[in-house]
Amino acid sequence: MASHDEDHAAKLLRAQTHIWNHVLSFIKSMSLKCAVDLGIPDIIHNYGQPMPLSSTHPHFIHRLMRIMIHSGFFSQHIDDTENELQVKYSLTDASILLLKNHEMSVTPFLLAMLDPILTHPWNHFSNWFKNGDKTPFDLVHGMSFWDYAGSDPKLNKSFNDAMASDARLVANLVIEKCKGVFKGLESLVDVGGGTGTMAKGIAESFPQLECIVFDLPHVVSGLQGSDNLKYVGGDMFEAIPPADSVLLKWILHDWNDEECVNILKKCKKAITRKGKEGKVIIIDMVLENEKRNEESVETQILFDMLMMGLVTGKERNKKEWIKLISSAGYSNYKITPVLGLRSLIEIYP
Ligand SMILES: C[S@@+](CC[C@H](N)C(=O)[O-])C[C@H]1O[C@@H](n2cnc3c(N)ncnc32)[C@H](O)[C@@H]1O
Repeated sequence: MASHDEDHAAKLLRAQTHIWNHVLSFIKSMSLKCAVDLGIPDIIHNYGQPMPLSSTHPHFIHRLMRIMIHSGFFSQHIDDTENELQVKYSLTDASILLLKNHEMSVTPFLLAMLDPILTHPWNHFSNWFKNGDKTPFDLVHGMSFWDYAGSDPKLNKSFNDAMASDARLVANLVIEKCKGVFKGLESLVDVGGGTGTMAKGIAESFPQLECIVFDLPHVVSGLQGSDNLKYVGGDMFEAIPPADSVLLKWILHDWNDEECVNILKKCKKAITRKGKEGKVIIIDMVLENEKRNEESVETQILFDMLMMGLVTGKERNKKEWIKLISSAGYSNYKITPVLGLRSLIEIYP
């Protein structure tokens, strides 16, 4: 009987812990943002060795660092000098990727995603389930995310910087690991290519390739191209400039199935001119792909929720991708899971 009571109590307390953990999980994001706003990764990096930290709130900073260490962003060393314990901090792989001057820094992504303009819709998530707005973002701001970015230069810049930082990382990896994807191509249009970071990386590595960065006018206006790269402003739902190949990096997960089929049909038109049949190269997540661990699965699901909160899109599993690809009239595809949570998906008319 006693052991039954113990089981019951343990279950109850475990459930309470589980709920508390989820209720308070937003503190993880906000503490990380605080550490980045304070420039802690850069301060430790510039010190050149494990560093003691102090501030006007010395005890508070150690408590902030405790949760950051717990979440894997720093490691801690205790120096026992002259009978005094001194705590020193050093960087981990994750905080190195948050350094402001790191070529592939994820800091712009963190700052954009945790901007109150993007987090505010979550307070109205349940209202959205009950009303007819397109997205929680539309419900709160009265317009789509893309229109908001077009009307607010600060958000436009912060979002474009976030995309550019990710594009630097992905361009490096794609060029290093998947060079063959661009073999034999003479032209490529990066649809929704943002400010052109990905296309610039490709254009520099493949000088024979004529590259076009195609995005909304407020994203590309005033940007200067190079010998084999030019910027074109427009709307992918109307027409896409013709080329041998189209790149869609982090585009289709922004849109619902009907919108994606529409985009893919426009892409097909762009790559099948003069009897030539090119290909579309998609970089996006494939849910439930083979290489799974707890953190990857949860992160993919979080991205799916992010798409639900901000835009009309979603993350898709392999079956959903195949359905989309065939609905848009493509006959063949190849999925290469080489980019961590994302895959490279080549599709052929
Ligand atoms: C998630 S971002 C991806 C940017 C870039 N491909 C990358 O991964 O770094 C989506 C991009 O699609 C662009 N976009 C949105 N609606 C568009 C439209 N109707 N026509 C062309 N581009 C559009 C946005 O301006 C934005 O740059």
